[in-house]
Amino acid sequence: MSVKYNLLKELEKTDAFISGEEIAAQLGVSRAAVWKAIRQLKDEGFKIESVTGRGYRLVSPADTLNADEIKRHLNKAASKLEIVVLESVDSTNNEAKRMLAGGFDGQALIISNEQTGGRGRLGRSFYSPKNTGIYMSFLLKSDLKLVNAVSVTTAASVAVVKAIEKVTGIKAQIKWVNDVYIGEKKVCGILTEAISDFETATARNIIIGIGINITTENFPEEITKSAASLNFHVPVRNEIIAAAANEMIALADNLNDHSAFIDFYRRRSLVIGKEIDYYINGIKDCGTAIDIDDNGGLVVQKISGELITLSSGEVTVRLHNTD
Ligand code: BTN
Repeated sequence: MSVKYNLLKELEKTDAFISGEEIAAQLGVSRAAVWKAIRQLKDEGFKIESVTGRGYRLVSPADTLNADEIKRHLNKAASKLEIVVLESVDSTNNEAKRMLAGGFDGQALIISNEQTGGRGRLGRSFYSPKNTGIYMSFLLKSDLKLVNAVSVTTAASVAVVKAIEKVTGIKAQIKWVNDVYIGEKKVCGILTEAISDFETATARNIIIGIGINITTENFPEEITKSAASLNFHVPVRNEIIAAAANEMIALADNLNDHSAFIDFYRRRSLVIGKEIDYYINGIKDCGTAIDIDDNGGLVVQKISGELITLSSGEVTVRLHNTD
């Protein structure tokens, strides 16, 4: 662990001032090293009061991404992930692909404080301003059968919803197939990509890109009506990332078995019982979402009464006019 990280832990233990000398002795480093680490923390946004003769006091913590802090919250299974924290990148999914292309052969979690070209599903972009959200991609090895591909996104949305609830207490819902909502607004999107092996019909590597708006405000015009953030103004990003990693790794080893997560997914479904619009082969239709089947497919009852199951795509929940 770095001096900076250990120093932060010391400052977090008390509201009182601690002298530089005391911290240096505690951490077994020089006063100069303490001073340098204090400067780094201040540069990262932590408010630290320094008073000559008294020492240092943490006034307000910053929600800084920190690999050590993430690792501290990982369980044993998730500790196998290589944690990569970046300040800025075009897209963490792109970074994962670059790692693969560069010969990386492990499993990783790539996180960035901002994305300059964040990507969403169906060719859309994902708004990713700095300091206010979580933008991360799991790069995992897998033996997932391509016929079960939808289960990755299903499992990922379950992992995110559980992580948000564990750390913040906020109960989110899932809009089929993998958008995470609070009320009627989307707070998280998931973009899954795969490197597949056609001979065995499996996805060899999967990249699960997750974007969660934590305190994001001022969304671009085109999504102001549909997007929101958790609006949670306590530093939680590292903890949510680690909690999502713990959940994701627990599910990832057995993605071909949906039973581990499908019940939770159903319970948190935003669409079951609602009238929805959907597209099949580019043609719009509507019906009532009545269930999620055991493979994550959405069972819809058409107006004619016929039952169909959607296995991919996007649905819109009809809002009733209350005038
Ligand atoms: C969507 O809502 O359509 C999916 C959004 C996925 C956004 C995440 S943020 C981390 C990862 N990197 C990307 O470029 N996209 C995903």
